[in-house]
Amino acid sequence: MSTPGIRPLVAGNWKMNGSRDMARKLVADLVARAAGSELPVDLLVCPPFPYLSVVADALSGSSLSLGGQDCHTAAAGAHTGDVAAAMLRDLGAGAVILGHSERRADHGESSGLVAAKAKAAVAAGLTALVCVGETEAQRNAGDAEKIVENQIVESIPSGIGFADIVVAYEPVWAIGTGRTPTVADVAAMHRHIRALLTARDPLGAVVRILYGGSVKPGNAAELMAVPEVNGALVGGASLKAEDFWGIAEGAAKSAS
Ligand code: PGA
Repeated sequence: MSTPGIRPLVAGNWKMNGSRDMARKLVADLVARAAGSELPVDLLVCPPFPYLSVVADALSGSSLSLGGQDCHTAAAGAHTGDVAAAMLRDLGAGAVILGHSERRADHGESSGLVAAKAKAAVAAGLTALVCVGETEAQRNAGDAEKIVENQIVESIPSGIGFADIVVAYEPVWAIGTGRTPTVADVAAMHRHIRALLTARDPLGAVVRILYGGSVKPGNAAELMAVPEVNGALVGGASLKAEDFWGIAEGAAKSAS
């Protein structure tokens, strides 16, 4: 089992994919599967902003929860094109992905900005799902643990309740590439992250640490069984109900 006492979370990050019709069908399929089973795994669906409402309706009454893919640092105001954490909460979201490597790369998001967003998210009643991960060059240079450590320290704001945090370790070079680190490398990084979190707060012992990057039904059970891996952040494979469900089943195998 990955960490005794921690229930796995499998989160689907749809990124900028889908349509209204696809969102309805995909979620209806997931809801039907969830209704017919008692998987000991929490499931989270994070669609693009325009489909949050459609997905919220489709998830209603089910055991799955809704999440956003980003939020602004401010509670409201003159920020054209941005979305406040309270708006996500208003639509029924329970969580928001923050600091994904695509946002760090596409929008130049710094860890400091991610920390400010995490503070705003938690203040609005959301769980902040904070992403960290090294590039391939950083890993090849032997700097992976140091890079991730700095991202953890700088992206998780001081004073935040650790009960409201989820960490996702996503090596940038494993995202969307079909490549994954070795089980030993995942184990080493997750152990390192756990040590960093517990050194900061006793509740760090129960923060969920997800692995993300090319998780598929075929490798989920093996990855989810790694010590201190408490679920998955899934990109491409979250766009097909069968694949997302297959990953949830993989995670269930190592659930306590
Ligand atoms: P992937 O993406 O599963 O398509 O590799 C993971 C992520 O970016 O969260």
